[in-house]
Amino acid sequence: MASSTSSVITLKINGEKHTLPVDHRTTLLDALRERLDLTGTKKGCDQGQCGACTVLLDGRRAVACLQLAVAAEGREITTIEGVADGERLHPVQQAFLDLDGFQCGYCTPGQICSAIGMIEEHAAGWPSAVTEDVRPEAGPPPLTADEIRERMSGNLCRCGAYVAIVEAVARAAETHPDEGHATLAEGTKETVA
Ligand code: FES
Ligand code: FES
Repeated sequence: MASSTSSVITLKINGEKHTLPVDHRTTLLDALRERLDLTGTKKGCDQGQCGACTVLLDGRRAVACLQLAVAAEGREITTIEGVADGERLHPVQQAFLDLDGFQCGYCTPGQICSAIGMIEEHAAGWPSAVTEDVRPEAGPPPLTADEIRERMSGNLCRCGAYVAIVEAVARAAETHPDEGHATLAEGTKETVA
């Protein structure tokens, strides 16, 4: 029941609507995990620093621990449970599996959601902090290992699976229809320090 501190909200998650009462202070992460049993999204730091809780909001990546559930009403929320196409894994999921882009797997749902958003951002021509030529006419930069590392730097992996994560993201990016220019650039297989 709604009160001055709680509201009944409807969240659209992976194409399905869920109506639930929430305290206004409930984060999207806690609503997903504790209220809706969508435990694929992980809680690491709970303060926006590790990326384990990354989901997609209207197709853009966001850390669910810094998002209030009430503020997510009316948005398209995609969690790791919703990225596959039925039985067919998303190309990013497949690449992580094929290239062993994980060890314990705790950071993996966040890494995958983040990579999905990152590949879209890159294909749309967004520069990163390591992009040398940021003029709009320069177009998207080659998706080098440095570009991937920088763009995925909000997602930490305590197991240190970064080498394989970079390779998996690069391979998945090659399958994106707008990423013809972004072939696995020289240096993508360099060791990550
Ligand atoms: S749990 Fe959200 S960023 Fe760490
Ligand atoms: S695979 Fe263990 S934290 Fe990343």
